[in-house]
Amino acid sequence: MTQDIILQTESLTRDFNGFRAVDSVSLSVRRGHIHAIIGPNGAGKTTFFNLLTNFIRPSAGKVMYEGVNITARSSADIANLGIVRSFQISAVFPHLTLLQNIRIALQKRAGKGLNFWSSKRILNQFDDQAMQILALVRLESLHDKLAVEIAYGQKRALELATTIALDPKLVLLDEPTQGMGHEDVEHIMELVRQVAQNRTVVMVEHNMKVVAGISDQITVLARGKELASGTYSDVSRNEAVIEAYMGRKRKRNIGTAHDNA
Ligand SMILES: Nc1ncnc2c1ncn2[C@@H]1O[C@H](COP(=O)(O)OP(=O)(O)O)[C@@H](O)[C@H]1O
Ligand SMILES: [Mg+2]
Repeated sequence: MTQDIILQTESLTRDFNGFRAVDSVSLSVRRGHIHAIIGPNGAGKTTFFNLLTNFIRPSAGKVMYEGVNITARSSADIANLGIVRSFQISAVFPHLTLLQNIRIALQKRAGKGLNFWSSKRILNQFDDQAMQILALVRLESLHDKLAVEIAYGQKRALELATTIALDPKLVLLDEPTQGMGHEDVEHIMELVRQVAQNRTVVMVEHNMKVVAGISDQITVLARGKELASGTYSDVSRNEAVIEAYMGRKRKRNIGTAHDNA
């Protein structure tokens, strides 16, 4: 394994009662890349994602992170190693303010053993930093609002902000633009770019405009298998990919079928 590869799966497989949802997927994610996982509904994208953080146990295969086998590690252990999955329900506390939400993430990162409760000065420091992060995602004017009070697109921006606050090495994003209007999609694209500075992002994404716009590398899954990997122009011209998306061979851009922008 070369030093450039931050995450690698080796023949990763998951069966559900005899049905193979993820079928021997061997994928390499390069450090610093935005790597998109795409594919038709039922392709195994979500299951694959869940296998990466041992949210679901693999039936076979391995997950290697920084050259270390993390396949059997607990999800909490994996988070401590610097892999953070965004858009989990637990990421945002609805009845705390936006500022408090970011502060908790910052405190978590500053972490263990540090008696940060005692010092008002340190708490204020966290607040300053939290405001900077809120500004980054254009939520600073809402810092006093409860998370439950803000709009859907803003909530997703807040989730990304808590992810930034945790400063992980590898971010896993599960459909960051799901359910969003055009304007929010543009904003989230920009935010994902920002999140990806100095770190690696793996994302499942349906919106082909987003995939084409920000991915360095794309892996296409179909029926649990890796169909193709490459740049957008590589995979969008791949016959097997076109066929998987269209159901039959037709010369069309894969973006047209699934573009939900
Ligand atoms: N917990 C489960 N039990 C049984 N089958 C499942 C389970 N999770 C997913 N599957 C099946 O595995 C296949 C892949 O699902 P999923 O990973 O959600 O696909 P995608 O995210 O690409 O739409 C689907 O056929 C789905 O029905
Ligand atoms: Mg899915």
